[in-house]
Amino acid sequence: MFKGFSRASLSPPRVAIIGAGIIGLSIAFELVFRRGTRVTLFDTRPCGRGASWAAAGMIAPAFEAAAEAGVHPRLFDLCLESADLWPEFSADIERLSGLPSGFEPAPALAVAMDAGEAAHLAAISDVLTTRGVAHRKLDAGELARLEPSLSGDVLGGLELETDTRVDNRRTVTALLAALQANPRASFVEGPAPLKARDGRIVLDGYDAVIVAAGWETATIKVDEAGSLRSLVNWDVALDDIDCFGGQMLSVAAVPGAPARVVRSGHVYLVPRGGQVVIGATMEPGRAIDTPEDEIIATLKAEGAKLCPALAQAPVTESWAGIRPGTPDHAPFIGPTAAPGLLVAAGHYRNGILLAPVTAKMIADRLMGEAVSELATAFTTGRDYAVAGT
Ligand code: GLY
Repeated sequence: MFKGFSRASLSPPRVAIIGAGIIGLSIAFELVFRRGTRVTLFDTRPCGRGASWAAAGMIAPAFEAAAEAGVHPRLFDLCLESADLWPEFSADIERLSGLPSGFEPAPALAVAMDAGEAAHLAAISDVLTTRGVAHRKLDAGELARLEPSLSGDVLGGLELETDTRVDNRRTVTALLAALQANPRASFVEGPAPLKARDGRIVLDGYDAVIVAAGWETATIKVDEAGSLRSLVNWDVALDDIDCFGGQMLSVAAVPGAPARVVRSGHVYLVPRGGQVVIGATMEPGRAIDTPEDEIIATLKAEGAKLCPALAQAPVTESWAGIRPGTPDHAPFIGPTAAPGLLVAAGHYRNGILLAPVTAKMIADRLMGEAVSELATAFTTGRDYAVAGT
């Protein structure tokens, strides 16, 4: 088990991060700017252009985690803790990059179009009330006044103070710019030459390696030995990260388009830069990179059921992305069974939301700081059967 670096070390540790999506970039940002560490990011693809670019940018602890069945029992706590970190994370990104972070802390609306959705919102509200988390129950008339774009078929809903949004494409752009301008950060476009040596996985020239490669984490190559997937003796759990494809589109923000995040069942509408993002499918086991016309048309129609003005809005973009998910839909954050190799992957639907808390937890581990009780709940090797009950 990795014990962290000694505080007495004379020079800051050299850290390699494999994967330069929002998770890898946020860890690098935390290490470089808040902990004084030197970092190299390795990625075979353009930085921040995978799931981080495909995401809609919702920061949605209540809707995504308060009343989800079968998920890690502490997922909601993790999501709340990270949502609390977002304002400061955003301010630091803006200060250090000179660019907008895209963070917009306006509360989202979750609305019900049928009795099943109303029951789900009631379950979310019950959990939030029990936990003392701010939210408001709204009837159809109140919702129509707050968000006139909504369909007259909306039955009622919730205003969720914890659930906000960020323009994730701006966030990764700003994170990248801040890191590229700092001499303690460097980037390698290509694979990290990992080696299996003396019971360890090492990268020559680095003191520790963090693998943050999303759904591809287990496929990262290790020398002649194969991949992290094949090195099951070291950490079989990494192979539990599966892919969950998602397709979505954006349309022009025509008059009558929603001004804030609106969600209902699996459909969400997110205003972003003069457009409205409409998402998303959830396709377990599909590593898709191209959107399908029929699916995109269906999603658009579902979005227009929620906000009728969107029916006439021209499509500006459609795309597909791949969420990385573990069996309990919560990320792996922390050490692996291989000394010196840490993991930060498997964030499922919450990669954007969970970026700051993941970065903090990984940095605490690396720097030998106190590891929070919450952080210990998200290491590999946990019992999903117990977690899922
Ligand atoms: N967080 C929304 C999604 O993954 O579709």
